[in-house]
Amino acid sequence: SETTYPELYQRFANLVSSFPSSEGLSNTKLYRHDHGWYCRLVPMVGAMVADACFAARPSDIIVATLPKSGTTWIKSLLYATVHRRQHPPPTTVGSAAVDHPFNTSGPHELVKFFEFQLYTKEKAISTNLDELPDPRLFSTHVPFVSLPRSVVATKPLGCKIVYVCRDPKDHLISQWNFANRFRARDGLEPLPVETAVELFCDGLTPFGPYWDHVLGYWHAHLMDPDKVLFFRYEEMQRDPAAHVRKLAEFVGLPFSSEEEDGGTVDAIVELCSFERMSRMDATKGGRTKLAEGLLPNSAYFRRGVVGDWANHLSAEMARRIDAITEAKFKAASVRA
Ligand code: A3P
Repeated sequence: SETTYPELYQRFANLVSSFPSSEGLSNTKLYRHDHGWYCRLVPMVGAMVADACFAARPSDIIVATLPKSGTTWIKSLLYATVHRRQHPPPTTVGSAAVDHPFNTSGPHELVKFFEFQLYTKEKAISTNLDELPDPRLFSTHVPFVSLPRSVVATKPLGCKIVYVCRDPKDHLISQWNFANRFRARDGLEPLPVETAVELFCDGLTPFGPYWDHVLGYWHAHLMDPDKVLFFRYEEMQRDPAAHVRKLAEFVGLPFSSEEEDGGTVDAIVELCSFERMSRMDATKGGRTKLAEGLLPNSAYFRRGVVGDWANHLSAEMARRIDAITEAKFKAASVRA
């Protein structure tokens, strides 16, 4: 067509600006997409541009998550697994990962978001995606219904998707801390936890409602488990090695018996662990360029544990969230 990228971008920016907006668990207001989800203006525009422009290849792998659900971790595991031949993880515990890309680049630079990094206003001068070698690794926070049409409007799906979900209460507390960090930067009052819970229960979190997001990918997984992998953060914490093996099989690169004997799986788990990743130079000093500015890589690491919600939510708040989750997930028989 005759439409240039900047014209297309501007058209969607105008459209999103006309959508209803409200306060959310964020440092800026959230817009409501036609498909019923919320997020800030720039990533919503990016998601719509990606829908119009992205041409999926069957070999592509997309990491899909809600923010603060283990995105950084699954990106690390996927990258380390897919590129283990060129970039072997160190197999001696504690030894330096000589020349591993993680030393110099954060996981979000190695596996980029459609809506924050690839389909930005300045995309015209960024990487030409057509020139990337297979398998291309991408990521997104966008709900399944609003993924690029070249991914979801085809049968079978246009590429593979790796989804990770997290306990809603831990996701909420992680998002609350993240939002308040940026509110402080912007000179805004921190949101009290009571407000955070209200906004969360109303679905007013980035890319929320939480439950719709999880259910969208859960149903996609049930429809086509070979194309949509469904992981849980808590299960990954319980048995990371089993998840790395499943991930490798899912992307068509299962571990050989030599690799199993050589400890490659444990080496990947160790390399991508919270303790190790949070101490990397690329984490401590590095920044990732996003559409709205540079983000310190350290912002993606806080505590990295299961159950931190108990330090912040009252029993009453937890019960309220659990009741919503039970009602929404029981009807859809999401495995508990
Ligand atoms: P907490 O705020 O609960 O500590 P995302 O990567 O989707 O933004 O999610 C960030 C959450 O994942 C944060 O949770 C962060 O600490 C945790 N995290 C980051 N890297 C991790 C890793 N390698 N292993 C486990 N958790 C990790």
